[in-house]
Amino acid sequence: MDKRTCPIGIFDSGVGGISVLRQLIALMPNEDYLFFGDSKNAPYGTKSFEEVQRLACADAEYLLSKKVKALVVACNTATSAAIQILRNKYSGMPVIGIEPALKPAVLSASGKKPAVLVMATPMTLREEKFHQLMMRYEQDATIIPLPCPGLMEFVERGELSGAALEAYLGKLFQAHLRNPVDCVVLGCTHYPFVRDTIQKMLGDKVAIFDGGGGTARETHRRLAECGLLSPFRARGRVTIENSSESREITDLCSMLLKI
Ligand code: DGL
Repeated sequence: MDKRTCPIGIFDSGVGGISVLRQLIALMPNEDYLFFGDSKNAPYGTKSFEEVQRLACADAEYLLSKKVKALVVACNTATSAAIQILRNKYSGMPVIGIEPALKPAVLSASGKKPAVLVMATPMTLREEKFHQLMMRYEQDATIIPLPCPGLMEFVERGELSGAALEAYLGKLFQAHLRNPVDCVVLGCTHYPFVRDTIQKMLGDKVAIFDGGGGTARETHRRLAECGLLSPFRARGRVTIENSSESREITDLCSMLLKI
């Protein structure tokens, strides 16, 4: 079997990873993709470290059973908990994770020390991986971590705008934002789907970053390095599966892919 023709496997705790899938498709439209969302067990971000490790390994194992050629962990929370285990377990294939896009946010500020708000799940912000990342940039920016328990649930419900979402965000920003910020990093793959509402609430001057583009570029780089890029020119096939078989989730996934 020519491995290059196998799909790229991607997983997330739910529908959020579709924001990464969209970037992958934009960069490599000729690849086949198999996306698995674990909405039945979502959210991951408020679970224990061990539980997320266990769930992430099960998600990966499922994709591997479908003969994927690479694994993209389209979930910041699962990346913090399990990327090392997955890389050790599947050392023969590219395993790509995602992390909050602090680097581009910090680099975007010309001449002054920017205030960067990092929105992510409680687990992502608590874990060692984020602390290491923060240490790398804390000389150059004032970094404000903002755990957002409950925000991914809006996206899982397909509630991407509206009064309830604005009230939730308003409370969060009011409690944690004493001063205006220059940039926001969306450190959870669900949040790009509520980006417009976040922008509306913080104002047009605030630059918003997410890690989807960087993850897509890194996936391309790793596939090229391993000689695994698809030899086909035609548009590839995109398959979306979810542990929740509800009609609402199926419809939501198709909608999010098209946004
Ligand atoms: N989409 C996930 C992330 O990027 C987390 C959402 C959750 O399950 O809590 O962190």
